[in-house]
Amino acid sequence: MEIRVMKAEDIPFAVDITDEEGWGYMEEDFQRLIDLEPNGCFVAIDQDDRVGMLTTTSYGDIGWIGNVVVGSKRRQARIGTEMVMHAVEYLKGKSVRNIGLYSYLDAVSFYERMGFQESFRVARFFTFAKASEVKGTEVVTRGVLPQVADFDRKHFPGDRSQLLDKMLEDFPELFFYVEEDHILGYILGFCSPKACEIGPWVCDLNRPEIAENLLRDCLTSLENTQSAIAVPVDNESAMRIVRRQGFLEEFQVSAMLFESQHHKMNLNAIFGIGALEKG
Ligand SMILES: CC(C)(COP(=O)(O)OP(=O)(O)OC[C@H]1O[C@@H](n2cnc3c(N)ncnc32)[C@H](O)[C@@H]1OP(=O)(O)O)[C@@H](O)C(=O)NCCC(=O)NCCS
Repeated sequence: MEIRVMKAEDIPFAVDITDEEGWGYMEEDFQRLIDLEPNGCFVAIDQDDRVGMLTTTSYGDIGWIGNVVVGSKRRQARIGTEMVMHAVEYLKGKSVRNIGLYSYLDAVSFYERMGFQESFRVARFFTFAKASEVKGTEVVTRGVLPQVADFDRKHFPGDRSQLLDKMLEDFPELFFYVEEDHILGYILGFCSPKACEIGPWVCDLNRPEIAENLLRDCLTSLENTQSAIAVPVDNESAMRIVRRQGFLEEFQVSAMLFESQHHKMNLNAIFGIGALEKG
């Protein structure tokens, strides 16, 4: 078995294998992941057959593993373990200090055996709701993006400026912020023809009304498309807000960190995570 970097010609395979799990990706979603981490998305090959894949996304000190999947006929042969350890080595080679992933609750033991430990829980919600527009949030522009990225760095243990830049390029109408002499919060949404995701959603914890306004404006722009969001369960304000805005809980996942000395992250201002595959 060989593990090699995913290329553009592997994308139809990536869509097919993740479709079997019902993850709902389109080709452009994988193209975006490859653009963000050109050498860090991998395919497992066995006797010329593609048999598994995963992606990584790194943000300076933190690196995230996502989309871990092995073809249903090829499981239980250590392909999953080898792919994840390959990704860990890749991220260590980039001097990433914290390596994490979101695991389905029934797969926690699979990752624990490799040295990952549970850190916090995240609840995934979906909605078809449309909020009504509120006043007070602004659409992010190129000019304000550096300040939004600085605000994000204060509250997230890595540098997501490249991700925010890419999202602004692709979805400029779904990126909102609030400022009162300094940035108090932001939210962004991203869509494929099948569905939309909301996140990251980051806000001053003392201003939950601003977090709610950001979510409402983002929902308004999504116009009744099926939208998903994932919220750290310890953020009680965020859990209350998403339920009040009509979201329904689908499932929970466990955020797990690899051999970390500090496996409790300070996520106070994180109302919504970036996305299950991106951290
Ligand atoms: C999870 C997955 C990638 C593992 O791939 P794999 O190549 O079968 O994994 P390995 O052969 O390296 O390891 C298999 C071990 O992990 C355990 N394991 C794997 N997935 C598990 C799950 N969902 N629940 C419980 N145990 C699981 C297996 O029981 C097995 O343990 P055993 O050797 O004691 O029987 C694969 O099952 C898969 O693609 N599942 C569907 C997609 C998915 O759930 N991905 C994980 C997202 S968090």
